[in-house]
Amino acid sequence: MTPIVAPSLLSANFANLERDLQMVNDSDADWLHVDVMDGVFVPNISLGFPVIKAVKKIIKKPMDVHLMIVNPDPYIKEFVDAGAFSISVHIETCTHLHRTVQAIRHAGAKAGVAINPHTPVSFLHDIISDIDLVCMMSVNPGFGGQQFIENTYHKITALKELINHRHSKALIEIDGGVDLNNFQKLIKTGADVLVAGNTVFTSKDPKETISILKGNRVEA
Ligand code: DX5
Ligand code: ZN
Repeated sequence: MTPIVAPSLLSANFANLERDLQMVNDSDADWLHVDVMDGVFVPNISLGFPVIKAVKKIIKKPMDVHLMIVNPDPYIKEFVDAGAFSISVHIETCTHLHRTVQAIRHAGAKAGVAINPHTPVSFLHDIISDIDLVCMMSVNPGFGGQQFIENTYHKITALKELINHRHSKALIEIDGGVDLNNFQKLIKTGADVLVAGNTVFTSKDPKETISILKGNRVEA
């Protein structure tokens, strides 16, 4: 299966964003993954609306926005207005997750739910039919360039079962530590979307690396 490949903006060069975004435009990438961090839910602060709006003016690929923020509800519409194609909120931050998911869809974006490495897949049982995407964290959220957590494979298998059981159309997105050694196993196990920050932006040839993740090149 050909995965959706989403380079993660977090690992781009923020002093030269236009150049890195043009690279993504010219590449086989399908989406641009955009991480928003609030310094409360995760121990890091990344970027907000001014940057997203500026990125939107240049990027030609859909923006897949991953909100690592507490209380995302008041900001949903603004993220959609800023150009988000999909918005994932963390299950750990949303007391009224179903309401939040409805708000995302109502605002005109695809709705995703992100789960931390310790959060059981079974927690998605009663929301999986209402969402378009599960952003499965394969590192603890907050930083790029961390090591992939191997338990993720079991969680992908469990999530695939749940999706089939509930006749859901949700895509399985793997976020964190995706590299050229694990991407094929991730796809075989059931991943539909691969987020890749460090692997793409620190490589010698980012465009080529994206093509490899896409399965369009034989690995050297
Ligand atoms: C981590 C972010 C990821 C991050 C992935 O909290 O959600 O999207 O950019 O970066 P890599 O691919 O470097 O692990
Ligand atoms: Zn992310």
